[in-house]
Amino acid sequence: MTITETATAAATPPRTPLSRQDLVGTLFGAAAFQALSAGCELGLFTLLNERPGLSEDEVAAGLGLRPRPTRILLLATTALRLTELDGGRYRNAELIDAHFADGTWEIITDMTAFEAHIVYAAQADFTEALRADTNVGLRRFEGEGEDLYHRLAARPDLERLFYRCMRSWSRLSNPILVDKADLTGVRRVLDVGGGDGVNAIALARANPGVEFTVLDLPGAVAIAERKIAEAGLADRITVAAGDIFDDDYPRGHDCVLFANQLVIWSAEQNLRLLGKAHRALADGGRVLVFNAMADATKDGPLYAALDNLYFATIPAAQSTLYDWGTYERWLAEAGFSRVMRSPGEGWTPHGVISGVK
Ligand SMILES: C[S@@+](CC[C@H](N)C(=O)[O-])C[C@H]1O[C@@H](n2cnc3c(N)ncnc32)[C@H](O)[C@@H]1O
Repeated sequence: MTITETATAAATPPRTPLSRQDLVGTLFGAAAFQALSAGCELGLFTLLNERPGLSEDEVAAGLGLRPRPTRILLLATTALRLTELDGGRYRNAELIDAHFADGTWEIITDMTAFEAHIVYAAQADFTEALRADTNVGLRRFEGEGEDLYHRLAARPDLERLFYRCMRSWSRLSNPILVDKADLTGVRRVLDVGGGDGVNAIALARANPGVEFTVLDLPGAVAIAERKIAEAGLADRITVAAGDIFDDDYPRGHDCVLFANQLVIWSAEQNLRLLGKAHRALADGGRVLVFNAMADATKDGPLYAALDNLYFATIPAAQSTLYDWGTYERWLAEAGFSRVMRSPGEGWTPHGVISGVK
């Protein structure tokens, strides 16, 4: 354990004991998610944001539902405190309306769609995935390839949904990346497995002098090219189609970024990727790792603990949300020095770990 980890462990407050209500929430966790998902897909939260204080009949009319399903939906969303009932009138929880007010509701609905249409069915293989110590849930996705990303190539509809939702997951957390990634003195960043360019675009906007290359599989790169052009950044962000394991990294970069990338692979694969980054950089070059991290105290946070089920069951054989210290050790093992962690301050457990060659 490092000094920082020891301090964190000592500072962990005592936990509230499990209550019956907690157990009910977990027992019916799948149902709770379906209530949120149906509320999003049917437009309940949008309706109540636009017209707060509707009666049950008015909600039914607004959603085009019959009375019985309306009552079932509202009972569930209200018991879950997603909606509130006062004098026979329904409104959204304050938190939900706050997402509408600051323009982030689309992010929440995309994350919910990701859970509903990519994760939900396949995550039922979690127990089997634990027994087999591999991503058994991938069997729910037709096509070739040993990981989800290669399989998506066979399903353009799902691939589009995946990258749209991935973009929202990243938009939610990448203000932390923009805030914590120190690009002082950096001229060109290689964004390894950069997806549709969401992080390169955000970083480019915040760092006007810096150029970027987004390296990803052909399907993702095609989407990235469009998004970069839409953002008017084609002069500063270029794309490269390739395999991050098999192909040489394009040269001429003084910073390599792994955003939401080292959660997909095994320890051995992550060391391979970090080793490739080290070889591609000149002395003084920088590596940045950005993703959600688990606590070294092994008891949370809840976000990381539950998101880890997706990683354990679906994307690749050994995907894991590792803890901070594990990433730091890998960076040191790959030859990087001045390894530093910069946790975000938001409600997701994202942060940046940096190192210098
Ligand atoms: C979890 S997503 C993260 C995307 C992006 N960095 C972000 O934070 O939004 C992982 C990305 O790695 C890419 N990827 C996975 N395996 C790859 C491979 N072998 N070669 C190139 N890209 C790969 C996927 O296509 C996907 O875009």
